[in-house]
Amino acid sequence: GRRGEGAAHAKAILFGEHAVVYGAPAIAIPVDSLTAQATIERGGPAGLRIVSSLYTGPVDGAPARLTPVVTAIRASLERAGLGELARGEAGADGALVTIASSIPHERGLGSSAAVAAAIARAAFDLAGAELDGETLFDLVQTAERVAHGKPSGIDARTVAATGAIRFTRGAVAPIRIGAPLILAFADTGHPGSTAQAVGSVQALREREPASTDALLSRLAEIAEHSIEDLAAGDRAAVGAAMSEAHAILHRVGVSSDHLDAIVAAACAAGASGAKLTGGGLGGCVIAVASSTAHAEQIGAAMRDAGAERTWTVEVPAA
Ligand code: MEV
Repeated sequence: GRRGEGAAHAKAILFGEHAVVYGAPAIAIPVDSLTAQATIERGGPAGLRIVSSLYTGPVDGAPARLTPVVTAIRASLERAGLGELARGEAGADGALVTIASSIPHERGLGSSAAVAAAIARAAFDLAGAELDGETLFDLVQTAERVAHGKPSGIDARTVAATGAIRFTRGAVAPIRIGAPLILAFADTGHPGSTAQAVGSVQALREREPASTDALLSRLAEIAEHSIEDLAAGDRAAVGAAMSEAHAILHRVGVSSDHLDAIVAAACAAGASGAKLTGGGLGGCVIAVASSTAHAEQIGAAMRDAGAERTWTVEVPAA
């Protein structure tokens, strides 16, 4: 064909970020209301061109922060059997890659993984080829390694998941959600670099191995135990676990004053609990609400505490 299309949704980690890098289990959900879209159109002179909000022009002139995207485009076209487009060989067709995303960048919501997944799907759609889950995972991981060094793979799995999952060491299993889980999300408006956050936990672990491993183990226990609470639809227990996880993430150095203030505001507004989600240092907070109306109230309180934007996500019972 002349044109391929692909899309992928955002993700949020409920429990286990950072500890998951060291093999601990983590719990994550798809966030369908935020998506990345990619189209690849074959045609024009040999070479790849990109159209995106960050940059428009030939791939060779793309800024450094687009390197994971360029990696995803080249690797996906190669794996889809369209290597001649990727390599821009003389006489080959060119390709125009258009990327659009409503997922805020560097906010712990899996934007880089979702963009890579959308590109992989567009490349296989263009080739008219079947894209299996493992190939998709590999392609997203290839881009994620460029984006942040040592990705656990949880983002790559969750942007392709259709429901809540437990993730450990690359493998996923669906988990049961016993009652709809209503979450208020807040974006601090500040980017948090996953590479920097993961690097700072690693540095802390080198300096203070015993105490850091104890904290990471506790994050693992909280994640594992949350599976029962989520299955039972026990909102109070899920919230309490989130607040404890946030306190530990603060101690491993990946929170910020702004995140702490937003978490405190959510709890003061009656959330059962709240925590940062994703890499931290900036990015987003999630808080457990008792109803959609309550989530809106918590959102207002989080905006009063300085959140740039808030929204409500309902994880359906499943
Ligand atoms: C990023 O969404 C989650 C981290 O645990 C990093 C990773 O798992 O690759 C911080």
